Amino acid sequence: MMIEHRLIERMITIIGKELARIKTSKETNPSLIDTIADFIQTYADRCHHGKEENILFRELKKKALSAEHKNIMDELIEEHIFGRKTTGRLVEANRGYGKGDADNLPVIMECMSLLVDFYPRHIEKEDKHFFLPVMSYFSQEEKDSMLEEGFLFDQSLIHEKYKEIVNLAASSYMKGTQ
Ligand SMILES: [Fe+2]
Ligand SMILES: [Fe+2]
Repeated sequence: MMIEHRLIERMITIIGKELARIKTSKETNPSLIDTIADFIQTYADRCHHGKEENILFRELKKKALSAEHKNIMDELIEEHIFGRKTTGRLVEANRGYGKGDADNLPVIMECMSLLVDFYPRHIEKEDKHFFLPVMSYFSQEEKDSMLEEGFLFDQSLIHEKYKEIVNLAASSYMKGTQ
C-alpha cells in the first residue's frame, strides 16, 4: 500500500505543476485533466482506497480498536469521500471546459488545489500513524490472507475498468441511434 502511495504522490506533483502552469497561462488541456482525473478515480480511489476500505478497514472493524485508531480510521474514510467528491467535481468542470466554457477553469483550479493539499496529508496520516500500528491487531495468517485478497482485488480491476469503457462506448452509440 505504501508503494502505491509513492505513485499517487508522483501524480500529485504533476497536478501541482500543471496548476502552477494554469495560473500563468490561464488555460489547460482537457485531455491532460482527463488523464489526471482517471488516475485519481481508477488508481487512487477504486484500486488503492478500494483495498483500504474493502479489505483492511473491513477487517479492522471486526477488531476491538483503540479510540485513537478508530478515530483515525473514521477520518480516513471521510477523507476518501472528500477526495471522491472533489475528483467528481473536477471531471464535471473539465467536461464543461472541454466544450469551450472557460468559466469552468476556476473550478478545475480549485479542485486541483484541494487535491494537491489533501492527498499528501492523507498519505502521511496513513504511512506514519496508521498502517504500521494497526498491523498489531492481526495474526500473521490474517495479514497473509489480506495480502492475498489484495492481489485478487487488483487482478479483477483491469477487467472491470475496460468492461466499463466498452459499456460506456456502447451506450453512447445507443443514444446516437435514437
Ligand atoms: Fe486512504
Ligand atoms: Fe492510502
